[in-house]
Amino acid sequence: MKGIILSGGAGTRLRPLTKVTSKQLLPIYDKPMIYYPLEKLLSAGVKEILIIVAPDHCGDYMKVLGSGKEFGKDVRFTYEIQDSPDGLAQAFILGENFLDDGDNVTLILGDNLFEADLTDAITNFKGGATVFAKEVPDPERFGVVKFNDQKQAELIIEKPKEFISNFAVTGIYIYDNRVVEVAKSLKPSARGELEITDLNNWYLNQGELNVEIMDGDWIDAGTFESYYRANEWAYNRAKK
Ligand code: G1P
Repeated sequence: MKGIILSGGAGTRLRPLTKVTSKQLLPIYDKPMIYYPLEKLLSAGVKEILIIVAPDHCGDYMKVLGSGKEFGKDVRFTYEIQDSPDGLAQAFILGENFLDDGDNVTLILGDNLFEADLTDAITNFKGGATVFAKEVPDPERFGVVKFNDQKQAELIIEKPKEFISNFAVTGIYIYDNRVVEVAKSLKPSARGELEITDLNNWYLNQGELNVEIMDGDWIDAGTFESYYRANEWAYNRAKK
């Protein structure tokens, strides 16, 4: 299993904090934000990790994270620049050379913090795609999954205007090697992005999307409110 951390974007919602640095390098209690998703991959045994960054901050990422050596034996980071933030699914187009034939890949967003241990899902992954849903009070902010009466995923809608369910798709995704070709076949959405939701719906339509309900806390730290909550969460966890 290889890993990709998507850490691009301009972080406009967190201005002025992001005027001189990248959102995912901002501190969350005692560590840069990106350490949290990175540690999730490392603790699941993922050692080869591609870090996709915005052009303005690539030097800062290399300074903070380095080659990977500091994070463990055989840990190796590769960097790729995302010239413009054209959607999460773009990660697999940028990652095409990083992924070899047959490699499975876990994508994790650089601003997402998870409490759950994802080791089993990552190490036992066999094929298709696995995503994680979590009940939230504000589903309109996310990709949202609708389940049928048998609790099977029926449809995923990106930022639904009308309520379909409270289950948001969180920012960690596991795919088999077909993901690169599927990503390349996507057309930009109305907001001009290659949507991860379209990728997930492709696997859903093949009958190969596994949606797991995520345990524990999940925070997407991309707004002031959630960034603040993330700091509080990390502080409380560290004190425990
Ligand atoms: C993105 C995805 C969305 C997902 C969310 C998780 O949203 O498009 O499907 O639920 O990440 O954090 P965005 O960050 O583009 O608003």
